[in-house]
Amino acid sequence: MDFLREIGRRRTFGIISHPDAGKTTLTEKLLLYGGAIQVAGAVKSNKIKKGAVSDFMEIERQRGISVATSVMGFEYDGYKVNILDTPGHQDFAEDTYRTLTAVDSVIIVIDAAKGVEAQTRKLMEVCRMRKTPVIVFINKMDRPAMDPFELLDNLEKELKIQVSPLSWPISSGPGFMGVYNIFEQKLDLFVSSDKQRQGKTISINDIFSGEADSYIEPHASDLKEDIELASAGYPVFEREAYLGARIAPVFFGSALNNFGVKELLDCFLKIAPVPGKTKAVERVVEASEDKFTGFVFKIHANMDPNHRDRLAFVKICSGVFERNKPYLLTRTAKKLKFSSPTAFMAERKSVVDKAYPGDIVGLHDTGNFRIGDTLTEGEEISFKGIPSFSPEFFRYVENGDPLKFKQLARGLDHLMDEGVAQLFVNQATGRKIVGTVGPLQFDVIEFRLRHEYGATCRYEPLQLYKACWIESSSREQLEDFKMRKQQNMATDKQGRDVFLADSAYILQMAEERYDKISFHTISEF
Ligand code: G4P
Repeated sequence: MDFLREIGRRRTFGIISHPDAGKTTLTEKLLLYGGAIQVAGAVKSNKIKKGAVSDFMEIERQRGISVATSVMGFEYDGYKVNILDTPGHQDFAEDTYRTLTAVDSVIIVIDAAKGVEAQTRKLMEVCRMRKTPVIVFINKMDRPAMDPFELLDNLEKELKIQVSPLSWPISSGPGFMGVYNIFEQKLDLFVSSDKQRQGKTISINDIFSGEADSYIEPHASDLKEDIELASAGYPVFEREAYLGARIAPVFFGSALNNFGVKELLDCFLKIAPVPGKTKAVERVVEASEDKFTGFVFKIHANMDPNHRDRLAFVKICSGVFERNKPYLLTRTAKKLKFSSPTAFMAERKSVVDKAYPGDIVGLHDTGNFRIGDTLTEGEEISFKGIPSFSPEFFRYVENGDPLKFKQLARGLDHLMDEGVAQLFVNQATGRKIVGTVGPLQFDVIEFRLRHEYGATCRYEPLQLYKACWIESSSREQLEDFKMRKQQNMATDKQGRDVFLADSAYILQMAEERYDKISFHTISEF
C-alpha cells in the first residue's frame, strides 16, 4: 500500500551539537548528497556571531536564516529525509527542546578534540527523557584528537548511554588515513592528494587476515589491536537496542573533508526509526492510522511587520495531510482549512497537496495557533510532550507607553504563543513577569514588540532562582503553601499555579516542609 510505503521511507531527525562542533558543516554535506544543494557553503551558519550578542540586526538575520533552514527535506536513495534544524545558541535552547519533540531520531556531533560539551549534555537529557534513538558522529578527526577509547568512555560517561562503535579511525590529525567501517567491513581511505571524498573504499572480509595491511601501514597492527579491544569492550550493535535508545552507534570522520559522512548517512538510513507512535493525553496514535493528526512544535512570525501572519510548523503524526481539507484545532474546537500549506525541500519552499507522517508542513496562521496545539480530522485528542522548562532569567515587564497598552498585551500574547519566552502573572500584585532561558531573549522581545506591534516595554530587574509548577494530593497543604507564599505565587499562561523560588535554599526548604506538594521545573509532569 502506497501510504505505508511512504511512511516506511521517511527519516525525520535532528542534528544536535555544542556550537562549533560541526553541525552546520555536516548538515551541508548531507544536503550535498541529497542533491538538495549544489555547492558547499550554501547553508548559512545560523549561529549568532560571537561578539554580536545584542545586535538586533544579527537577531533578525538569524531569524531569517532559521526560517529558511528550519526544515530541510530531500530525496536520497529512495528515502525521504527530513532534517530539522536546531539553533546552536544556548539562549535558544528551548526552541531546540521543542524541535526534539518532532524528530524520530537524532544525530549528535562531537568535536574529537573536546569530547562531550555542556550544551550536548543538556540536549541528551531531553533525548533520554523522550527515549529518542541517537547516533554519534565524532567529527574533526583530521585534527589532533582524543584517543578513540578515551572518546568512547567520555561519551558513555557524559551522555549516560552505552556506545557501540560502527567505524574506527585510522590515526588522527594530519596523519588521519580514514576509517575502518565495522558495520560493513570496509576500509574507507583518504587519498592523500585530495581529501574531498576521493577516498578509496576497499572491502575486507577479515581485517585480521592481513589483506588490508598494505593499505594502512604503519597503522595496521594498531588498528587490529584497537578493533580487538573494542569488540571485547563494547556491545555488538543491535538495531533493537538502538531503537530502544539503550545503545548509541558511533561513527568517526571529518565533516569538513567530507570523510565518513556518506558512511554515516547510508548506515543511518538503514537503521534509523521510521515515524512510529505519538502519545496523546487520551491514547497513543500510530503513524499508520488512516486519519490525519499532527501537532504544532514551532511558530515563526513573519518578519515583515506589515503582514502579521505567522508560519506554524506542524509535524504529521498519522494519516495523510491534505490541502484545503478542514481540520479540527482541538484546543479551541475551531475548524481550519489551509489553502497553501508549505513543504520544505531544502532551500525551496513550495505549496504541497499531500504530506505523510514524519513530514513537516508550514501552515499560515493568523493567530489561531499556540505551540503544542493538536490538529485532527475531528477526534478530540491532544498530543503531549512539548514541555516548558523553568526559565533561568526573570524580569518584570511594564508598559512603556500608556497609549499603547493594548498593543503591548497583544504583542506579548503572540510572542508567548510562539514560545519566545514565558509569561507569568504575580498572584499578589498582578505584575507581569517574563521568564527566559537566556538574556538575549529580553532584547528580542523588546525589539519585536517595538517593530512588529508598535509597543514599548520596560524591564525591571527581578532576582529569582526557578519557576516551579506545583501540584499536590493535599488540598490543605496546597492552600496553606499558597497563602504563606502569596508574594511568590504566579499564574502561567495556561492558568496553572507556579511558585517563583528566590533561591535554591528556599526551594529546598519548601520541599522539605511541604512533603505533599510536588515542585516541577518542567511544565509537563
Ligand atoms: P556548528 O554548526 O556546530 O556551530 O559548527 P560549524 O559547522 O559551523 O563548524 C565550526 C567550525 O569547525 C568551522 O570553522 C568549520 O569549518 C570547522 N569544521 C567543521 N568540521 C570540521 C572538520 O571535520 N575538520 C576541521 N578541521 N574543521 C571542521 P570556522 O573557521 O569557525 O568557520 P568557517 O570560516 O570555516 O566557516
